[in-house]
Amino acid sequence: MLRRPRRLRVNSATRNLVRETKLNIEDLIYPLFIVEGENIKREISSLPDVYHFSLDMLEEEIKEIKDLGIEHIILFGIPYDHEKDACGSEAYNENGIIQRAVKKIKEIDPDMNVVTDVCMCEYTSHGHCGILTEGGYVDNDKTLECLAQIAVSHVKAGADMVAPSDMMDGRVKVIREALDKAGFVHIPIMSYSVKYASTFYGPFREAANSAPSFGDRKAYQMDPANTNEALIEAELDVLEGADILMVKPALSYLDVIRRVKDNYNLPLAAYNVSGEYAMLKSAVKNGILSEGAIYESILSIKRAGADIIITYFAKDLAKMIRDKK
Ligand code: PBG
Repeated sequence: MLRRPRRLRVNSATRNLVRETKLNIEDLIYPLFIVEGENIKREISSLPDVYHFSLDMLEEEIKEIKDLGIEHIILFGIPYDHEKDACGSEAYNENGIIQRAVKKIKEIDPDMNVVTDVCMCEYTSHGHCGILTEGGYVDNDKTLECLAQIAVSHVKAGADMVAPSDMMDGRVKVIREALDKAGFVHIPIMSYSVKYASTFYGPFREAANSAPSFGDRKAYQMDPANTNEALIEAELDVLEGADILMVKPALSYLDVIRRVKDNYNLPLAAYNVSGEYAMLKSAVKNGILSEGAIYESILSIKRAGADIIITYFAKDLAKMIRDKK
């Protein structure tokens, strides 16, 4: 036999030498949920080891994240229920939960790269990602104006990057124009370009108190059966000025990550969503799978073509990478 692939598997050093894909701490973005109130660090029941934080409890967490070498966080804000209204106006309140959280985090650590999720579902009384028409359909073009306002308010508060996740048509362009007009030409947009109407967001909606009060999100998020459409969504975002594209969820959509990566040269992010996290985390916590399953799963997202991975496992992974486990 001339060809013996096992030669390059013979010992750890050789395997390290020829390894094609590696996870780096730099690839990871860690999501944080910020709530109103004081003295709150409460584990989210649907997301083991992930917490709700009130602003006064953020300092220790930000330091821990930084000490692990994680440089990027993405923020989700949960306002008081009584602050929600039909048009989600609390989302662009300059003293809203996210705007105060960004300021606070920048005070704690000016070098922490703060990404904000730009959407309305946590702020609308009906839980949809935009403004409704009388028939209960999300009005695309009316919603665009609000999204632009939300993005500008986040950046005014100090956000380093905005990530629109609403799935309205044309939002990247409108946000880009609004940011530029406000003098924020240097702030990148990471667009949730290819976002499916997925059941895997279930635990997040509990965490963010953002489940729609009626119906579902299928009239704006994508049909899980479609991948040609993923390329159309990505193409539009490229043309509208997105700086980073995203596919979401990740683990059930590895084929989509690969297709988008093969077709576009922008950096590609993938969102390893709450349901994917909850499944794997419970299996590890219950001793059904070993911790290595976490690394292997997230590695598959990188191997599929993602450059950036948003994951609730970021802290676990940072420890595994650091300890070379
Ligand atoms: C807001 C938003 C959602 C997620 C990220 N941004 C929920 C949704 O679209 O219903 C889901 C993230 C996760 O499940 O981890 N629109």
